[in-house]
Amino acid sequence: MTSLKNGKSSGENGAENPIAWRIAQMQERVRSAKEQDLYLYLQPAEEVDGAHVVINGRRMLQFASYAYLDLLGHPKIQAAAHAAMEEFGTGTHGVRVLAGTTKLHVELERTIAQFKQAEEAMALSSGYVANLGTIAALLGRNDVVISDKLNHASIVDGCLLARAKFVRFEHNDMEALERALGDAPKRAGKLVVVDAVFSMDGDVINLPDVIRLCRKYNAMLMVDEAHSLGVLGETGHGILQHFGIEDQDSIDIKMGTLSKTIPAIGGYIAGKSDLITYLKHSTRAFVFSAALPPPVAAAAKASFEVIEAEPERVRTLRSNVNYFINGLQERGFNTLKSETPIVPIIAGDDERAWMMAKLSQDQDIFVLPIVSPAVPVGTSRIRANVTAGHNLKEIEHAMNVFEQAGKAVGVLPS
Ligand SMILES: Cc1ncc(COP(=O)(O)O)c(C=O)c1O
Repeated sequence: MTSLKNGKSSGENGAENPIAWRIAQMQERVRSAKEQDLYLYLQPAEEVDGAHVVINGRRMLQFASYAYLDLLGHPKIQAAAHAAMEEFGTGTHGVRVLAGTTKLHVELERTIAQFKQAEEAMALSSGYVANLGTIAALLGRNDVVISDKLNHASIVDGCLLARAKFVRFEHNDMEALERALGDAPKRAGKLVVVDAVFSMDGDVINLPDVIRLCRKYNAMLMVDEAHSLGVLGETGHGILQHFGIEDQDSIDIKMGTLSKTIPAIGGYIAGKSDLITYLKHSTRAFVFSAALPPPVAAAAKASFEVIEAEPERVRTLRSNVNYFINGLQERGFNTLKSETPIVPIIAGDDERAWMMAKLSQDQDIFVLPIVSPAVPVGTSRIRANVTAGHNLKEIEHAMNVFEQAGKAVGVLPS
């Protein structure tokens, strides 16, 4: 079958109306996948909790969500959202700098700053816009932004939006990063941007070396903690805690989302006061876009407090991650260099990944395929996310289902 690629082909260039051609191509790919009963995206959930999802009346074990610490539905978070709804309603009718700031937004930003050991923080309407807006706001025409090749799309889009020179270095390759830094003009402003945990592969950036190189070449460092907040470090404080790095200022721009471990929506930037003041007045996505709804701000703040109060969730997650990765590897799967809850199970070509996901869903394990161009050709995969909400029996059962599916499609010998 055809996969849902969005790539160019000769047809596009030759088409009379390339826009209409592109739309028709996608329509055809989706139609073809649906016809073969292999279209697995956008399925509406009828019920959701941390470890389960109900789709089409079927209760499935959830292995596709980012609910790393199983916080969705936590009574303290629910109560905070309800109280905020009572007090402020569902929206703010304003952007933050004008009518949109409530005391809840200020309290959320104070809580984030404290959690991330930064002087100040700012909250934006999503992690995507936090990356896009911040990178574009910081860089000027003569600057250079240097980005890991596997960084998230929102970082890539921010780099494209900024008018600076955009350089990408081989994934987690410190020699390549040093070359890129060395090649940048001496007087140019330099910004290095990396994910802490890479969202497709689940591996961790070599942060100590990135920090060393940024210092050596006088570059600012921005780290996206979308998948490390609540996940890395003994108490879930993130990548600096993971590496035991005490100097909190070794990351200039600490970015994260309120949509993965935190069961809300939004993104944040934390750092020095002068940086946050600058960003609050020059990030177009902050200045010209509405504030987070108050119940969301309150839920996010309460979530940070729950992470602090219930550190056992982080320990459960860590032991589940180890159990899951070891079990998959023992069964013969290639899980790349993942050491986090994001576990790629490499299938190879797109078709095998689609089939593995479909067979798993048929056995009530909800997992999704990730195919090219989201990942390099030949490394299509199912991406299975384990959380603190799973118990060992559920993880074992899911691994057995993946093993059967892997054998059925020829990823594992039968
Ligand atoms: C590494 C990374 N950064 C940023 C984002 C965007 O965050 P959000 O979904 O909160 O907009 C994502 C989302 O998947 C991500 O994986």
